[in-house]
Amino acid sequence: MNGDVARSGPSPISRFLVLTVVVIGLLVGFRWLVTPDTSRRHLEFFPDMATSPAVESQSLAAILPFGLSQQALPDGVVARGALPFPYGPDAEEAARAGRELRSPMSVESETDMQRGADVYRIHCSTCHDATGAGLGPAVMRGMLQPTSMLSAASKQVPDGTLFHLLTKGRGNMPAMAARIDVDDRWRAILHVRRLQAEAP
Ligand code: HEC
Repeated sequence: MNGDVARSGPSPISRFLVLTVVVIGLLVGFRWLVTPDTSRRHLEFFPDMATSPAVESQSLAAILPFGLSQQALPDGVVARGALPFPYGPDAEEAARAGRELRSPMSVESETDMQRGADVYRIHCSTCHDATGAGLGPAVMRGMLQPTSMLSAASKQVPDGTLFHLLTKGRGNMPAMAARIDVDDRWRAILHVRRLQAEAP
């Protein structure tokens, strides 16, 4: 009796074989489905501007309505990390910056002082030399000598006016805004103050 029942269904081995064939078939089918066809563009969901049209700068290619290739910036937009600096370049504006701006840095912070010293060494000492007297290597090679930042008059100049000087430049001193970010400009001023305090 029992032997008859066992013999009536397929044997475990052939079941296993069938199952294996089915699984392999599914795997091959799935692989065929997901193999990318690089010869054509696939459906894209939310491309997130990954393939936005590229326009040569200054070209007249109009890709936007009204014949435009570039949108006007909305009001009040600033580049990330940029500080709106609402001061003109002249001496009056530098004085106004001196009245209005306060340094966010403090001499108490050893990291800011150290960073200020590094910024000064890299960006300022070429002209102003390590002490601030104004005989840096660039001056030795013919650059006009800057006024000493160790003079009594220089020590009186407020932080905000120095920030204006570093940001906008003045006379032969170049504007540093593109090279030194806002915080590092303030840190460099910390170092200027230290040089002035240590000067005899
Ligand atoms: C290319 C040379 C050059 C570099 C680099 C330079 N300066 Fe100057 N700096 C000058 C000159 C020139 C003047 C005099 C400006 C003038 O004639 O009004 C000056 C003036 C100054 C003064 C005196 C301001 C005053 O009113 O007494 C300070 C302070 C100063 N620079 C700080 C710096 C700092 C800080 C840096 C670096 C972040 C720097 N400078 C980088 C050339 C340079």
